[in-house]
Amino acid sequence: MKNKTKNDKLDPKFKHFMLQEIYAQPQAAMEAVTHYLSPENQEKAIAGIALDEKHLRELERVVILASGTSRHAGMVGEFMIERLARLPVDVDFASQYCYRDPLAEPNGLAVLLSQSGTTADTLLALYEAKAKGARTIAICNVEDAPLAREADGVLYTHAGKEIAVAATKSFTAQLTALFALGVHLGHTRRTLTTHETREHLDSLMQLPEKIEAALGCGELTHKCAVSMKDATSFLFLGRDISYPIALEGALKLKETSYIHAEGMPTGEMKHGPNAMVDERMPVVMLLTRNAMDAGSNLRWEKSMVLLEQVAARGVHVNAVACMEDAEAVAKHAAMVFAVPSAPALLLPVLEIIPLQLLAYHIAVLRGVNVDKPRNLSKSVTVE
Ligand code: M6R
Repeated sequence: MKNKTKNDKLDPKFKHFMLQEIYAQPQAAMEAVTHYLSPENQEKAIAGIALDEKHLRELERVVILASGTSRHAGMVGEFMIERLARLPVDVDFASQYCYRDPLAEPNGLAVLLSQSGTTADTLLALYEAKAKGARTIAICNVEDAPLAREADGVLYTHAGKEIAVAATKSFTAQLTALFALGVHLGHTRRTLTTHETREHLDSLMQLPEKIEAALGCGELTHKCAVSMKDATSFLFLGRDISYPIALEGALKLKETSYIHAEGMPTGEMKHGPNAMVDERMPVVMLLTRNAMDAGSNLRWEKSMVLLEQVAARGVHVNAVACMEDAEAVAKHAAMVFAVPSAPALLLPVLEIIPLQLLAYHIAVLRGVNVDKPRNLSKSVTVE
C-alpha cells in the first residue's frame, strides 16, 4: 500500500487537514475492508496476515503494545479479540512494557500498533517482545516503516497519509484492522463458526456507510462546541468497550484545545469522580447499544440511570447514542449526537466520530493551530 499523494493536498472544502481526515474516514474504512476481504477469501477474514495458522491455533495469550491514540485502539482491540477468539489479551503502554522485564511469551502474540511505524517507544516494545519469545505483528499505516519491517507479520491500515498531528482516520482504520484480526483469529481457532465469521465480515463491509451516517452530526458538534468552548475541564464516560473511546475523546480534546479532560469508565463514577462533577464541568457520555445484544442492553440501561441522576443535578451532559435511542436520551442530555446502530464490537468506530468533530470545533473556536498543536509532533522518534 502506498499512501497516496492526494492526501497531502488540502481540499478547498476543508479549512484544516484534521477536518479533511475526519471526513475521509468512510473512504479509509472502505479501503481497509477492500484489502482485508476479497470475494475468494470470504472465510479467512484477512488476506496475507503472514503468520502461520498452526501458531495462531496454539496461541495462549495476546499482548497489545502501543502509545497514545494507538493504545486506545489497542484497548478496543482487547475486547474484540477476547470476545471473538476467546484469548486473554493484555494492553500496555509501549513505554512501560519495554522497562518492566515482562514474562516470557513462547506461545504469545505481541501486536504492535502504530500509525507512523516509527514511534521509538513502540519499536523498543517490539524488540522486548521478540526478546521474550513472542511472535509479533505490526498494525501500521505507513508502508515499509521500521515497525512493519521488523515485526514477523504486518497488517497495513490503508488509511492514506495522515498529516494532522491528532490521529483520526488512522484510529478508525486501526479499529477496523483489529476487528478483522479478531475475526481471523476466531475463525482460525474455531471459536467462530463459518456462519458467524460470515456475519462478522458482512458487518465489517457495512461499516463505511455507517461512518458516513455518523458524520451527519457535524453541525450539531459545532453548535455544541460554541456553547462549551470556554469550559476548563471535561469528563468523558464510557462503559465496557466504550471506555477506551472516552479516553480517546478526552485525548483529542486535550491535544487540540489544551483543555483538561479525563476519560473514565461510567461504572466508576460512584467510586470517586462523582464528587467533582458540577454544572461547570461538561460531561460527554457514550450511550450507544446494539438492541439485539442482551449484554449491550444491560450496560445501556445502567448508564441511562447514571445519566438521569447526573443531569438532575444540573450537570451539562452531552451524549452519543444510536439514532433509535436519540429521543429517550434527549430527555436528560443537553445534546445527543446520533450514530447508526451496529454490532456491539463495532460501535466504538461510530462513537468516536462526534468526539473528533467536537474536539476539532472547540480547538478552532479557541484559535488553536489545530493541525499542529504546540509541543507535539506527528512522529515521536525519541523516548
Ligand atoms: O504513530 P503512532 O501511532 O505510534 O503514534 C503514537 C502517538 O504518539 C499518537 O497516537 C499521539 O498520541 C497522537 N498525537 C494522538 O492523536
